[in-house]
Amino acid sequence: NLDKANDNAKLQDIAHETQPRSESDKLTDNMGHAISDDLNSLRAGVRGPTLIEDFLLREKIHHFDHERIPERIVHARGSGAHGYFELTESLADYTTAKVLTEVGKKVPVFTRFSTVAGSRGSADTPRDVRGFAVRFYTDEGNWDIVGNNIPVFFIQDAIKFPDLVHAVKPEPHHEMPQAASAHDTFWDFISLTPEAMHMVMWQMSDRTLPRYFDTMEGFGIHTFRLIDAAGKSTFVKYHWKPVNGVHSLVWDESQKIMGKDADFQRRAMWETIDQGGTLEWDFGVQLFTEEDADKWDFDVLDPTKIVPEELVPVRIIGRMVLDRNPDNFFAETEQIGFKPTNIVPGMDFSNDPLLQGRTFSYLDTQLIRLGGPNWQQLPINRPLNPVANNQRDGYMRQTINPGRVSYHPASLDGGSPSEVPRAQGGFVSYPEPLSGEKIRKRAESFSDHYGQARLFWNSLTPVEREHLCKALQFELSKVETRHVRVAMLDHLEQIHPLLASQVALALGEAPRASQTAKPGGTADSAEEVALLATADA
Ligand code: HEM
Repeated sequence: NLDKANDNAKLQDIAHETQPRSESDKLTDNMGHAISDDLNSLRAGVRGPTLIEDFLLREKIHHFDHERIPERIVHARGSGAHGYFELTESLADYTTAKVLTEVGKKVPVFTRFSTVAGSRGSADTPRDVRGFAVRFYTDEGNWDIVGNNIPVFFIQDAIKFPDLVHAVKPEPHHEMPQAASAHDTFWDFISLTPEAMHMVMWQMSDRTLPRYFDTMEGFGIHTFRLIDAAGKSTFVKYHWKPVNGVHSLVWDESQKIMGKDADFQRRAMWETIDQGGTLEWDFGVQLFTEEDADKWDFDVLDPTKIVPEELVPVRIIGRMVLDRNPDNFFAETEQIGFKPTNIVPGMDFSNDPLLQGRTFSYLDTQLIRLGGPNWQQLPINRPLNPVANNQRDGYMRQTINPGRVSYHPASLDGGSPSEVPRAQGGFVSYPEPLSGEKIRKRAESFSDHYGQARLFWNSLTPVEREHLCKALQFELSKVETRHVRVAMLDHLEQIHPLLASQVALALGEAPRASQTAKPGGTADSAEEVALLATADA
């Protein structure tokens, strides 16, 4: 019971250091001096100029002048909530991580949902990929799954990320369009990036029009590693499955909602929780060995590929419940700094080249976004367990470290001057044997860009295909440069000729090569062909 009480206290602890405010509190400046008049500045005579000695006016305006911080370079528009994660099945056979082995324990979480392209003040419901970032405040340090609501990504290598983002964001000369991918630069980049085709199929499907936050799935996307007590590694992919099921808006609804209530999804989450409700997901894993992976015709290190659930079913091992709204949007939702490098002992990364680049980017960006090297001491970013290291000083340092020893090895702090004083039992990297030439080249196993895009198309119902065709028709009709549209039609042709010809028709282009040939031997029903043939622009 004590443990339970402790857990509950911890759940409440996360970023819950609100300033007490009661009616008897006096209004003060930032140094605690009581203020008698906050409505009139100090003047030389009632109609005279303001005096520079008015330190109360100056402090108030000075603070106001500096209230803004940069928004996130991507995923700027987001909404978050607190809650907990509860493990229902232990993965002790695969990992030593307590968060994945202690069944029944409630681990506090903070989860932030976001769009990718729009700015902080943009709308909730454009056609866009959604960020799905979960921080677990575990006893062994913070663990972040910084994922999306789509199981694959646009590019295979982090070095292309700045180009992808420059292409998708509003065009730099006129800052249009806001929060939308329907423009030339995005499709120009995509048409020259065949590896994006699988992701583009998901992006043009109803998946990028989620109805609510808790009607969308979440994915860790990359292949990660779990490490057991003997040091053995198993590959893992992470999945969030909404208890309410997956539901989307249709395009027309989505556009109208954007006009009527830009905060549609944010408001729905807030009100649900405010009225005592919860948002819930099951947490699942796909576990597979390196030997399994070697047999498949795609590379599990390639983030543009899924591991089909027919090959490795998703095993549900826990659930996440979001049940507490933040007290302050800025201090929690805005100041949380996720990073994919937040993993705990018993976990590790894989060599996915996109993930490898991400291990650098998040720490780096937060140095500026959150104002210096001590951003990890902000309440929402602090781990539950104590932090102990010799890092010191820097802008906005909050911790007061006593004593004269801030180095290692040291004998003056009363401890023994051993080589690794506090390192035992901590994180160790998986000792994967490495060899190879230093080279800038992708593996041959990353080269099929159309197979899983076609698999996705084949998995859709006729109505879903119709929506996908219409989305492409809409998006590409906004592209002014003809050769970009034509290049995209050529890619669609490789995915499925019927898809290509439907989109071509709406764009006034010649029908693509063959409306009847079916790549991979897949046959569409006559009913489906008729349905697509009536799809309008
Ligand atoms: C932010 C997901 C690839 C750099 C985010 C966020 C999510 C996310 C969910 C928002 C986090 C939040 O709510 O605060 C992903 C996924 C990726 C991916 C799923 C691919 C599988 C990349 C790559 C880079 C990158 C390749 C750079 C090399 C960033 C940066 C931010 C960000 C700089 C802003 C972070 C901040 O200011 O706090 N990403 N991302 N991402 N991502 Fe990624």
